[in-house]
Parts: sequence; structure tokens; C-alpha cells
Amino acid sequence: MNTTAKTAALKRTRGCGTLNTNDIGTEVCVAGWVHVSRDLGGLIFAELRDGTGRLQIASDPNINKEVHQLMSTFKNEFVVIARGKVTKRPEGRENKEQTTGEVEIYPTQIELLNTSRPLPFQLDQANLVDEALRLKYRYLDLRRPEMHNNLVLRNRVTQTIRRHLDENGFIEVETPILTKATPEGARDFLVPSRLNAGDWYALPQSPQLFKQTLMISGIDRYYQVARCFRDEDLRADRQPEFTQIDMEMSFIDEEDIISVTEGLIVKAFACADIHVKPPFVRMSYAEAMDKYGSDKPDTRFGLEFTDLTEVALKCDFKAFKQTAESGGKLKAMCLKGMAETASRKQLDTWQDYCKANGAKGLAWMSFNAQGLRSSGLEKFLKPEEIAQMKKLAGAEDGDVVLFIADTAKVCATVFGRLRLKLAEELNLIDESKHNLLWVVDFPLFEFDEEQNRLMAVHHPFTSPALEDLELLETAPEKARARAYDIVYNGCEIGGGSIRIHSQEVQSRAFAAIGLDSDVAREKFGFLLEALESGAPPHGGIALGLDRIVMLLCGGKSIREVIAFPKTQSGSCPMTGAPSAASPEQLKELMVKNVLPPAKANELAKAATEK
Ligand code: AMO
Ligand code: AMP
Repeated sequence: MNTTAKTAALKRTRGCGTLNTNDIGTEVCVAGWVHVSRDLGGLIFAELRDGTGRLQIASDPNINKEVHQLMSTFKNEFVVIARGKVTKRPEGRENKEQTTGEVEIYPTQIELLNTSRPLPFQLDQANLVDEALRLKYRYLDLRRPEMHNNLVLRNRVTQTIRRHLDENGFIEVETPILTKATPEGARDFLVPSRLNAGDWYALPQSPQLFKQTLMISGIDRYYQVARCFRDEDLRADRQPEFTQIDMEMSFIDEEDIISVTEGLIVKAFACADIHVKPPFVRMSYAEAMDKYGSDKPDTRFGLEFTDLTEVALKCDFKAFKQTAESGGKLKAMCLKGMAETASRKQLDTWQDYCKANGAKGLAWMSFNAQGLRSSGLEKFLKPEEIAQMKKLAGAEDGDVVLFIADTAKVCATVFGRLRLKLAEELNLIDESKHNLLWVVDFPLFEFDEEQNRLMAVHHPFTSPALEDLELLETAPEKARARAYDIVYNGCEIGGGSIRIHSQEVQSRAFAAIGLDSDVAREKFGFLLEALESGAPPHGGIALGLDRIVMLLCGGKSIREVIAFPKTQSGSCPMTGAPSAASPEQLKELMVKNVLPPAKANELAKAATEK
């Protein structure tokens, strides 16, 4: 028997996690990492872990001295291969939680394949350590079953989607990573060109222009598991590079795309044992903003808004009346059964929250057994007005009604945020629900305060609703788009549109957002020319793969389903990216560092030493 061989004489026959009572009596060879090892009164028990799970191996000096000797040297994360017969654990020693918990192996042969340095964190305590440390030692973090399972699920979802699209006649085409700026509206990542000094490539924010070009090339049904790059501020559900399931189809309308996508979602969700049924609900953008104050409404709980602007117009409370008269709205949100429990302190913190988010105030009425309490509203409102508001807001005795009077936009955003906050705080979310819905009838354009002009809500190739074509010239802000977003439990998991395929309509859409035809040619000239060369009617969608897998894993952060993600500040603690370039590299690329000299020197030194 060889217990210390440098090269493995043993060969693995089974995964650790695959063994159970059916295998009792079978001779197997398993390999993996020592998850834990314990010496219990002369017997050593180690758990061996691989991608399939964990298995107990044990040693008894009276049975095999050499094996016992080697196992006594085991430390966490040592790499081991062991051979032996699967045996049943003695009564009382079973672990019912583990699929392998009723069996164990007393190896007859064992080899130590590799040792491990002391760990920077214990794997089963990873949840307690700083995420930066987990990202720096990502190879250890990914050994944890939770993380491993996330990657396994991600693979299963991706393969399922590929199969679905393949079965539906889509072909996968790769599009360039080194390209020209694409029109998704975030900041571009730029890459300097050495061969064309002074020029820059942009990394694609999406394959949008290429997939439309492919339709003009006659590809008919395209898809790609596409890496996209957006230099935007990061949040829990955003990464600077992420993956889209990107699709485009020719000679279709919205219904075809929705139907292919619903089929895909049903299968992808089934990978995580979530069974959803199409057709999914459809909600207009106007209704979503009106009732939920969001274009990605979470419908797992109520707290829908009602509109009391009509009552506000007629009442004597200045804050309500004046707002309504100047074109604003009065919105109400009813908290069922909260009259007894909502304290004034709680109501004040909600008001502070609304003010911090840009509202002028938060008024309230509480209808409890003792009668009405309110934020002073009864001084200004007649009893019949209060009764009318109560009725319209859907309130009964025992309920609290919250009010915001402001512009439609402030009402929507502030009440929309408060709604989500209250749902969390008051524990109103039914976690067993899987609510998928389509938001449709988006506006084509919206006014951008910063740029002081209309901008495309999706992107400038989105087709206007056919009946709204004339509005492009007369009232472009009223035109609706042939666009659709898909929302799952309040998270936007995808979006797309039917595109403009006529050069004439495209020019009118550019004109509506003040995009000069020369500038448009400069930016997307090739697509405009292509549109003039027999473009078929076409449209598509892109689904955020990372977000979908994150939600299927029940996770709160997209970083948990990406093998090597970036931190909030866009860096990778494991590789050290991004890092300085050497002066030689910069010179070759004709790129000048314009940082203050001291900082530039420090970076240059770091890059040269690398
Ligand atoms: P859009 O910009 O809506 O559409 O993107 C589609 C989906 O991609 C996901 N997503 C992201 N996921 C992680 N990190 C990010 N930074 C990030 N940004 C977007 C979202 C989103 O719904 N070309 C169009 C699609 C089309 O019109 O066909 C596009 O890119 O889940
Ligand atoms: P005031 O008359 O300003 O003291 O306000 C009386 C109550 O109405 C306070 O609770 C304010 O927060 C609330 N309030 C004032 N303006 C608004 C508004 N625009 N929308 C909702 N509540 C408001």
C-alpha cells in the first residue's frame, strides 16, 4: 500500500455525494478535499468533499495503522483519494440531513494528493467574512457547496435556454467585442487601438446593432449568450460586465417574441423547480406607474395606489388643492389593519423617508376604534371629504391611509419606493409567489432633464406604435413604443422591442430626439445604410441571465452567481484588475496619462514592477 505517493496510483470511480445505502458492500474510490477532520477517542472521522457532495471516511488504528497514521495528518482542504468498501454507519451515528449520511468508508488505501496552506477564512464561515476577502480567494469561496450549486444551476439554465432556442430554429452567432459604441445609454468602456493610434474601440453594451444587421443579412432567428459591458454605477443587481440571452427574429410581431420568451422562461425556471404558467400578465406602463409607482412592479403584495386628484381639486387643504390645480396628483396608499399598530413615530419615519426622497410631505389618516387620527387633515377637510377619500382609497375601519400630493413623477417615485420599503418592513411579501408580468406600451421618448431634450426610453431603433406614428412630429412625448419588459417579482429580467425597419421612420425618430442626420450617420451609419438595403420587419429581446439565475437561487446579489465578479468599485480583488499600464504600453498606444505627476509616477512604477 502506498500512502504517500506523489502521483496518484488510485483512480476515482465515484463522486463523494453519489453514494448511499444502495452502494453498501461495493468497493469504490473517491477523491476530494478534506472538509473537516475530527479525532474522536482514537477514531478519526474526516468528511471528504467534491462537486457532488460530502462523504464520511473513517479510520481505526486497530484496523489499518498506516491509513490511520496518514489521516491523523489531515488538515482542512488537503486533497485526498481513498479506496474502500461502502459500509453502513453504526446505529445512532447516521446523519439524516445528508444523502450520504447513512454510509461511510474505512479506506483500505489512501493517498494524500496535495496539502493546503492555512485558509484565510473557514469555508463554512464565509458568510461572516468580508466579501472582498471571499473575492480575493474566490477559488476557495467557489469550493463552498452554495456557490458551487449556483454555478451548476447557471449552467443548467443556460443549456436549457440554448436547447429551447435551438429547437425553435434560432442560430447562435457571435458578434464582436472590440467594436463601436452601441446605443444602450450607459457609459462605454473604451480600448485604445495600437494599429490605429488615437482611435478607440468601445466594448459592446449589447449586440443590438449587430443583431439587427443579422436580420438584414437574412439570419431570420438569431441568439447569443452575449457578454455586455456597461460602465455604470454598480448595484446589487448590476455588474459592469454581464451576460444577456440576446435574441432577434424577422417577419414577426410582439406576440411571437413574447411566446418564444415565455416558453424559454417556463423551462429555465423549471431548472430551479419553479413552475410558472404562461401567458404571463400584461400591464401597461401607465398602469404600472399609476398603481405601483414603478415600471417593474412587484405584485406579490398589495399596497396599490389610488388616485384622489378629483377630490383634492374640490377640497380646502391647500397642499392637496394647489397641487391638483397645478396639474399634480393626489395619491393614496392604504395599509390594511394598521390603525392600531402604526405608531406616530413610525409614521414620522415614513414621512422623513418620503421627504428625503424628494416629496414635500406625507399626510395620513388612521381609522381606528376611537375614531379618526390624522396628520392634522381633519382641520382642513370636511367629514364628507374624509369619507370620500376613505372610500376611494379602499379603506375600512382599522386601516391607515397615506397620502402624497405632488407632480405625477414625484408621487410615483416616492410612493413607489415607500411601497417597497413598507413591504419589507411590515413583512408583506409572499415569498412563495412567482409573479411574472410583461410591461407594455412604454412611452417612446422621455424628457431628460440633464440633456434638456427628449431621449429614447429604450433605444432609438425602437418602433413607435403604428397608430402613434403621426405623433413623432406633433407630440413625440405622447408616442408609445412597441417595447416590452419582462418583470419577475419586481425585478426587470429582460426587455426588447419591435424595431424600426424603414429608413424613413428611422429619420423621423432621430429628428424627434434632435439627433442630427449627420451625427446619426457618424454613429450608426452602417445600420442606417443596411436599413435601406431591404431590411425585413424585425424585433427582439434580451434577458439578463445573471439576474435570472440570481433570482432562481433566491439570492440578493448578482455576484453570487458570477464566478469572478467585480466589486462595487469595479475591481477584481483576485487578479488586481484594473491596474496601471506601463509607460511603454501607453507610449505604444499613444495614450497620455493626465493624472497629477506624483500619482502618474506611482502608477508607472507599479506597472513596471509588475
Ligand atoms: P436592456 O438594456 O434592457 O436591453 O438589457 C436587457 C437586460 O439585461 C439585464 N441587464 C443587466 N444585468 C446585469 N448588470 C447590468 N449592468 C445590466 N444591464 C442590463 C437586465 C435587462 O433587462 N439591446 C437591448 C435589448 C433589445 O432591445 O433587444 C438591451 O440591451 O435584466
Ligand atoms: P403642513 O400644513 O405643511 O404642516 O402639513 C400638514 C401635513 O400634511 C403634514 O403631515 C405634512 O407632511 C403633510 N403634507 C404637506 N404637504 C404635503 C404634500 N404635498 N403631500 C402629502 N402630504 C403633505
